Amino acid sequence: PSAGHGRAHAKVILFGEHAVVYGYPAIAVPLHGLSVYAQAAWTSGPSRVDSSYLGDPATRRPGADAIPLTAVAAARAHFGLEPGIAVDVDSAVPPGRGLGSSAATSTAIVRAIADLAGVPLGEELCFELVQHAERVAHGTPSGLDARATAAEGPIRFQSGSAHRLGVRTTAHFLVADTGVHGNTRSAVADVRAHLTAHPQQGRAALERLGAISGQVEQVFGGADGVTQLGDLMNEAQELLAGLGVSSKEIDRLATAGLAAGGLGAKLSGGGQGGCVVVLLPGEEASATVEQALREAGAAGIYRFDTRMFQP
Ligand code: MEV
Repeated sequence: PSAGHGRAHAKVILFGEHAVVYGYPAIAVPLHGLSVYAQAAWTSGPSRVDSSYLGDPATRRPGADAIPLTAVAAARAHFGLEPGIAVDVDSAVPPGRGLGSSAATSTAIVRAIADLAGVPLGEELCFELVQHAERVAHGTPSGLDARATAAEGPIRFQSGSAHRLGVRTTAHFLVADTGVHGNTRSAVADVRAHLTAHPQQGRAALERLGAISGQVEQVFGGADGVTQLGDLMNEAQELLAGLGVSSKEIDRLATAGLAAGGLGAKLSGGGQGGCVVVLLPGEEASATVEQALREAGAAGIYRFDTRMFQP
């Protein structure tokens, strides 16, 4: 084939971010509404990656950042493709918001290049190649983003491996973007520094965050438990704030979401910016909570619910 195509989507981490770096379990959900598309083709020159955002030609950036270029180089080397590969990426995922934009871009690229090479891409190989690029992006990524952006449904992730989570509970969420760029690498470093300064409190917080993920798996397996889910989100937010990864923008959105009727609200991903996930008491509360979040400064809002993942 003369062209290859690949696609991946954004993700939200519902529970376990940061704790996952220390081997505890986490729970993440793909955001099917926010996708990255990549197209790969042979080029006689050096490899290149051109990116655009939401298909808008005005956002077209020729030449590329280190991350997608690393994904291209890794995939190209693996599949033994010569000479270069030209890749066009179009993303609907805002970067630096904890939505997995870098992993989604790399996954779409790796899939497009495998498609171009005409080689079936196994889950493990895709993960390995994307992780290679993620190391350039974040230093020591747990692999959660690489797994979640390649997943077809909610996952439980621990120590590099993921398995699909059965979800019977119907839960409606809003994801509110603070508009502030969060840097995962420095947030992870800040948690490490916090652990050095306050080892006992820090370790206890991570352990509890991991235990919460375990409880959530049980809640999701049952038909109800939405209120309990909200309580666990609020507890997780407090623990994450204690580790130093919340921010005043996150706190403002979380408070507004809860005041408008949300059952739970927490940061998602690296924190120190990025997005806040709010659990709604039901679908009918969506408009009211959304308005409150916008009034509190949300730069963007995404909606998702667990119904599409139910058997
Ligand atoms: C980033 O999306 C999630 C973190 O747990 C970092 C990681 O898992 O590598 C903060």
